[in-house]
Amino acid sequence: PMIYAITPTYSRYVQKAELTRISQTLALVPNVHWILVEDSDEKTDLVRNLVADSNLLVTHLSIKTPVYEKLGDEDPRWLKHRGVEQRNLALKWLRENLQHGKDKGVVYFMDDDNTYSVKLFKEIAKVKKVGVWPVGLVGGLNAETLILDPNTGKVTGYRSGWKADRKFAIDMAGFAINLDLILAKSQAAFSYRMEKGFQESEFLSYFTTKEELEPLADNCTKVYVWHTRTEKPNVKGVVPGLEV
Ligand code: UGA
Ligand code: MN
Repeated sequence: PMIYAITPTYSRYVQKAELTRISQTLALVPNVHWILVEDSDEKTDLVRNLVADSNLLVTHLSIKTPVYEKLGDEDPRWLKHRGVEQRNLALKWLRENLQHGKDKGVVYFMDDDNTYSVKLFKEIAKVKKVGVWPVGLVGGLNAETLILDPNTGKVTGYRSGWKADRKFAIDMAGFAINLDLILAKSQAAFSYRMEKGFQESEFLSYFTTKEELEPLADNCTKVYVWHTRTEKPNVKGVVPGLEV
């Protein structure tokens, strides 16, 4: 199946470095279609050139987060939802350009700053409806993970340091959804109306139940994705003519 990797991205000093890392990971993955959505009114040359250089199959889009929903420079990260507009545009693109029943694939939301093992994509390719796996360095733990029934192997709960009682206490990087479901449930989307930190849980609720989740990554015993975050660089001067 084709893996549709949806990545929101926004302009800042580390953007090119982040996108270089992600695109070079994806270059090691067979059958991937990268849907890269800039948080801007217009596509930028920086991202356009990076896409052209990548040799990947890419759909490059842009849509700006409304000013009143945008995180300020000094705001803490949790204050606003991130990537809502961009992920929704990518979902719209899938629904307008792919055919239910004909196009086969799996949809994965891939932040531009996480670290992804190539092994993760072999797991994503196995997803029948909704697949789940541990995510390293998130939710106040060394890793967030699923609790499995030792007899049935089914998901019975979540190990998270943050609101583990959510209907689905899973980070954006910890699940992938079959394209058939994405195309069939055309109303499923992200929203600013959701409580902070509940985007994943609310979105997954459109498609599945806890009992139906498919635990991957060796029954959730392996970590193949890390919620890394890049330090904001302390730039005190700018060298003219150098794109960083
Ligand atoms: C965590 C999750 O990993 C995100 O998937 C989720 O969207 C976010 O929480 C949330 O609750 O909204 P975190 O590391 O805190 O993410 O968020 P970022 O990595 O800063 O942003 C997530 C994605 O949105 C990134 O791909 C980033 O490039 C993009 N983004 C962020 C924008 O497009 N515009 C922005 O103004 C900020
Ligand atoms: Mn992040």
